[in-house]
Amino acid sequence: MTAAAKPNARPNNPNFSSGPCSKRPGWSVEALTDAMVGRSHRAKPAKARIQEVSDRSREILGLPEGYHIGIVPASDTGAMEMAMWSMLGERGVDMLAWESFGDGWVTDVVKQLKLQDVRTLKADYGQLPDLGQVDFNRDVIFTWNGTTSGVRVPNGDWIADDRTGLTFCDATSAVFAMDMPWEKLDVVTYSWQKVLGGEAQHGVLILSPRAVERIESYTPAWPMPKLFRMAKGGKFNASIFSGATINTVSMLCVEDALDALKWVESIGGQAGVQQRSEANLAALAKWVEQTDWVEFLAEDEATRSCTSICFKIVADWFTALSEDDQAAAAKKMVSLLDGEGAAFDIGAYRDAPPGLRIWGGATVETSDTEALCPWLDWAHAQVSAEYGA
Ligand SMILES: Cc1ncc(COP(=O)(O)O)c(C=O)c1O
Repeated sequence: MTAAAKPNARPNNPNFSSGPCSKRPGWSVEALTDAMVGRSHRAKPAKARIQEVSDRSREILGLPEGYHIGIVPASDTGAMEMAMWSMLGERGVDMLAWESFGDGWVTDVVKQLKLQDVRTLKADYGQLPDLGQVDFNRDVIFTWNGTTSGVRVPNGDWIADDRTGLTFCDATSAVFAMDMPWEKLDVVTYSWQKVLGGEAQHGVLILSPRAVERIESYTPAWPMPKLFRMAKGGKFNASIFSGATINTVSMLCVEDALDALKWVESIGGQAGVQQRSEANLAALAKWVEQTDWVEFLAEDEATRSCTSICFKIVADWFTALSEDDQAAAAKKMVSLLDGEGAAFDIGAYRDAPPGLRIWGGATVETSDTEALCPWLDWAHAQVSAEYGA
């Protein structure tokens, strides 16, 4: 088969979006049959269902004793903003940003909260900032996996055990796919819509005992919307983290999250999901090795994401184009694959350099990732021919 011939077999499931991500293999709406719909989320059995999501998550993730885990409004963004608005301002902040979402948190802290003592350590798409520059006597905000560049921190070794500041980690595309050194993380956020293949609009917030201490010992200068309030009369409101959510949750989404967690348990828990994700990365790495028109956007292999796997197109015909034309050419590849039903939603994020982004989280079957590779070659051959290559 030449690269230009259309492959025979399509991936069984063409959903390679980086969020909302593919549902688990075998998922159907039947999974929601027992959802507590039409009941108050404050009713005893509904509350128990909400609590079960937290309990199963805590168990799978191996959270340390004393850590709180709870469901909060507005997805990962809600969880991060709730944490930042509740705890920042007590001391200086070091912000790390190397792609769009990290940049967004910088905007929150500098332009909205208007904190004065902020250091921003930035890097370009494909790279990490110098982690050695971080001062852990300050609060530190970073993204574990930069979903729009496919660059993750390689581990938590750079985070000080004896820190006096708090670490805030947006880990929405990392939790359930990567090793998280919980003892080094004081605030962790994610949403079900990523690695679990769950639904959006519910966030998960994990707090260390030191984060709780901050909430109890410090009151920010700014007003606190009800949606962000974690303290009541100067005390940490632990009930939010034991089934009594701040406002109404969707019991359908809760049921769906439970279904996803049970699936994770059935494939070996945290080790199982990590293996599946790493296998997707390995399948794509093998293809990149054999392919001359594409490279990982992440420059250092140790920082390559196993979930949001991002690629740049390095063929001469492509690099000779202006940035706008590159974006248009990459879009053509993406829409060809979409039209063929071979891959949906694999274009680079709107703020990222033109290229491709393929989700490799656990809900994606490695056989589908493998089946996608010849289609990528096919789409490249079609579009490069259009450009006279
Ligand atoms: C790193 C990161 N942070 C935040 C978000 C926003 O998540 P949500 O839309 O669930 O609030 C995303 C979504 O892709 C993300 O990848």
